[in-house]
Amino acid sequence: MRGEPLASPPALTPTLSRERERRQHEAPLLQVDGVSLDYRTPERVVRATHRVSFDVHAADRFVLLGPSGCGKSTLLKAVGGFIPPVEGEIRLDGRRVTQPGPDRIVVFQEFDQLPPWKTVKQNVMFPLLASRTLGRKEAAERALHYLDKVGLAKFADVHPHQLSGGMKQRVAIARALAMQPRVLLMDEPFAALDALTRRKMQQELLALWDEVRFTLLFVTHSIEEALVVGNRIALLSPHPGRMRAEINSHGFSLASLGGAEFQRTAQRIHDMLFEEEAEAAA
Ligand SMILES: Nc1ncnc2c1ncn2[C@@H]1O[C@H](COP(=O)(O)OP(=O)(O)OP(=O)(O)O)[C@@H](O)[C@H]1O
Ligand SMILES: [Mg+2]
Repeated sequence: MRGEPLASPPALTPTLSRERERRQHEAPLLQVDGVSLDYRTPERVVRATHRVSFDVHAADRFVLLGPSGCGKSTLLKAVGGFIPPVEGEIRLDGRRVTQPGPDRIVVFQEFDQLPPWKTVKQNVMFPLLASRTLGRKEAAERALHYLDKVGLAKFADVHPHQLSGGMKQRVAIARALAMQPRVLLMDEPFAALDALTRRKMQQELLALWDEVRFTLLFVTHSIEEALVVGNRIALLSPHPGRMRAEINSHGFSLASLGGAEFQRTAQRIHDMLFEEEAEAAA
């Protein structure tokens, strides 16, 4: 089911109407179409998501928001090509996703996603070399380019254990962006950071997006983070995850935190999640 927008979108500027017009003529970059995902254990089948549909357009910051266990990570893994749908289809540029590929790169929550024996620069270069995307010289140049974008050019030759959690996540983001994927997939990338660092990383991610305009599919269970990071939010119901609503959040940014409209929308999303939980309990 595709929900109605929850927040009334702010008045359209001429640029945004042109943007909308352009989009109507353009096929979505990523299509998740009626996707059900199951886990099979010897005893039973666990349905993680049920007939979920959404479209992600180029340069969207699309957020999957929902309570723990609603299948957000599973959906991301399916888009990554690691789990095949039992129903429905995932298409990237119109082609069915059947396996992982360098056009979809995932940034995870854990800080230990960087091999510790490689320097920061070697970590960023590694997927470029392993996928034979670039030769050594070009890979080194591109690695430095993206390390500079995340403010870590000076740390290119240190090892991950010499970095803070936030810095390690920046390296993981640089490594992912260096591959110049069609879609960047992020699974709660800032959840393990302290509140201040988390805020700073959200700010940096938005600044980076402003500069690079990558397409982002971002998972979180924080309503506030979803509103700040996303321009569109898919709200998923509790286990098994179904589409509850699609929310237009492009009018919100870090600057709107604490504002009346922001609070009101956050509260309405909270109520919808809470309502679903009450229904599920009943
Ligand atoms: N390997 C697995 N085997 C069996 N069931 C699983 C497996 N991984 C996840 N599940 C189940 O699938 C459902 C969705 O899990 P998933 O990890 O996608 O949720 P999530 O929305 O990412 O949750 P969280 O916010 O806690 O990360 C859950 O009910 C979970 O119990
Ligand atoms: Mg998860």
